[in-house]
Amino acid sequence: MPPIDLRSDTVTLPTAGMRRAMAEAEVGDDVYGEDPSVVRLQERTAALLGKPAALFVPSGSMGNQASMHPFVRPGDVVLAGAGAHILHFEGGAPAALSGVQVQSLGHDGCFDGADVRAAIHPDEAHYAPTRLVAVENTHNLSGGRVFALDRIQDVAAAARDHGLHLHLDGARLWNAVVATGTPAADWAEPFDTVSVCLSKGLGAPVGSVVCGSETVIRRVHRARKLMGGGMRQAGFLAAAGLYALENHIERLADDHAAARQLAEGLAARGLRVDPAPETNMVMFEVESPAAFSAALREREVWINPMGPGRLRAVTHLDVTSDDIDDALTRIGAVLGAGSP
Ligand SMILES: Cc1ncc(COP(=O)(O)O)c(C=O)c1O
Repeated sequence: MPPIDLRSDTVTLPTAGMRRAMAEAEVGDDVYGEDPSVVRLQERTAALLGKPAALFVPSGSMGNQASMHPFVRPGDVVLAGAGAHILHFEGGAPAALSGVQVQSLGHDGCFDGADVRAAIHPDEAHYAPTRLVAVENTHNLSGGRVFALDRIQDVAAAARDHGLHLHLDGARLWNAVVATGTPAADWAEPFDTVSVCLSKGLGAPVGSVVCGSETVIRRVHRARKLMGGGMRQAGFLAAAGLYALENHIERLADDHAAARQLAEGLAARGLRVDPAPETNMVMFEVESPAAFSAALREREVWINPMGPGRLRAVTHLDVTSDDIDDALTRIGAVLGAGSP
C-alpha cells in the first residue's frame, strides 16, 4: 500500500521537467553575483510581485528573518497575527537573531488596522518601541486562510501612519493568488519586504525569494550574508524555482480542489471540519490527534497533529484526486475500527 503523504506541501519531489531544468542550468558563483540563473529567478520574481529588486535565499525562515533584521533594533516589538510562523516555528529566531519580541494580534492569523493602532506603544521610556508589522498570507496555522486584501490595506495604512516597516510572509502567497484571482503584485504592493517560497506548493526542492526596493534589498542582502545564506552555484536551485514559477502556479487550483474533496469526505464521515477550505489545507478535529495520526500511519496515510485536538492535512503536487479517495477510504477504516 503506497503511502499518501498529507503532512505538508513541502514533501514534493522535483518532477522530470524540473530535474531537466536543474541539470541544464547555467550557473556561476552567486556570492560574486555571477550566477545567471539566480539573476533570472530574482528578476522574474520581482516582476511577478511588482517590486524593483529581489534576492534568492535558502529558506522561508531566512527570507522572513533577513527581511526583518535590518529594520529593527534589539528591544523592539514586531507585531504579527496570532499563530504566526515567525513567532511559533522559526526556532525563536526573531529574539535570537534580531533581539526583538513578537506581539501577536487578532484571531486566526488575521487582524485589522485598529488592532495595529491599539498595540503600538507610546513613545515613552517604559515601553519597547513598536517597529514592524508582519502579515502571513496564506496563514498556515489557521488552515491556509487568505488574509483579505482590504484588511491588509487597512493594516498597511495603520502601519504607514506610525512609520512601521511592513513585511509579508508570503510562503504560500501563490495559493492566495490562485484562490482569489488577485495578482501577486496587488498582494505585495503595500509591503516593504515580501518573502515568497518556491518549495511549498510550487514543488521546487529549495528556496525562497525576498522582494522589495533596490535599497531595501541591498540591506536584506547584507542580512543574508550575516546569516550565512550566501550560496555559490545556486543556479541549479534557481532553475528549479524558475521552472516552478512557469509551470506550477496555476495548477495550485488542483490542490485547492483536492482539499475541498478531502474536507467534504471527512465531514461526511462525521469528523468536525470546515468543509470549504480556502486553499490547500484541511484542519479537522479529533479527541486524540497523536493517537489518530499513529493509527492513520499504520494504514499509510500520513497526517500530522497540529495543536490541541487538531490535525492538519495538506494537498500538493504529488497527491491526486484518486489519492484523496484512497485516503478517505483508509481514514474511514480507522474510524470504523473505533479509533481513537
Ligand atoms: C507561513 C510560513 N512561513 C515560513 C515558513 C518557513 O519556510 P522554511 O521551512 O523554508 O524555512 C513556513 C514553512 O512551512 C511557513 O509555513
